[in-house]
Amino acid sequence: KCPSLDLIPVIDSTNQYMLDRVGQLPRGAVCLAEYQEAGRGRRGRQWLSPFGSNLYLSMYWRLDAGMAAAMGLSLVVGVAIAEALQSLGADEVKVKWPNDLYYRDQKLAGILIEMTGQAGEAAHLVIGMGLNVAMREQEGTAIGQAWANLEQACSALPERNLLAATLIQRMQETLEHYEQVGLDGFVERWNRIDNYLDRPVKLLIGERVVEGVARGINSQGALLLETEQGITPYIGGEISLRGC
Ligand code: ATP
Ligand code: BTN
Repeated sequence: KCPSLDLIPVIDSTNQYMLDRVGQLPRGAVCLAEYQEAGRGRRGRQWLSPFGSNLYLSMYWRLDAGMAAAMGLSLVVGVAIAEALQSLGADEVKVKWPNDLYYRDQKLAGILIEMTGQAGEAAHLVIGMGLNVAMREQEGTAIGQAWANLEQACSALPERNLLAATLIQRMQETLEHYEQVGLDGFVERWNRIDNYLDRPVKLLIGERVVEGVARGINSQGALLLETEQGITPYIGGEISLRGC
């Protein structure tokens, strides 16, 4: 059940494509590309998007409850993607707060949510996902951190259409469910697949570094970090989590 699907071989960024068409799209509309010339991650970082088997996907969603309900959405989408991949046999896929999917401590996929809309009105969201499927080693040399392919995480790689359809369907169902139950309904599901649960981590907050043990998320979607001072919730887009 996909209300509109644009398949575009070469594009600058699937998120940009959807952002440019926000007013003209039905909820759940999807754009899929084979190659991105300007794939992007959080805070202007680059998302390496070579041609081949990787998935570059963006979905449009309108949240009638407005921008405030968009908080925590990347956590919910992370659960949707992880569970979809697990259902296809990649049972070790985990989430990393706030917007990544990991396999064996390596980055498998990233989520980028961009939005437009006025305060007090519906929020128009573009939910982007880049998933490494079978990227060649030499294509990923510019990535400044450990990364993985779905190929490694599955005993048998699912056929590409099945992979895309499973992800799209799970994202749509999960977003609908989120609108009814809010983040509360996802905290336990997220914590169950948290790559860093009960592990030592550091948070990079601008120039500041805080070390502690990760204790999952709370009902606001904040990361819980335990230090000698106790457990502190951290929230906000300017925080990066790193394993120690
Ligand atoms: P954080 O979100 O915690 O700040 P991050 O380093 O993962 O951490 P993001 O902005 O989420 O930052 O993602 C962009 C980063 O992802 C890039 O700077 C690069 O290190 C990495 N990256 C880029 N392309 C890929 C890819 N195809 N696969 C895996 N990782 C990638
Ligand atoms: C991240 O880890 O920072 C998020 C990366 C998101 C990449 C995807 S690929 C499809 C969509 N189009 C983009 O330009 N970015 C997202």
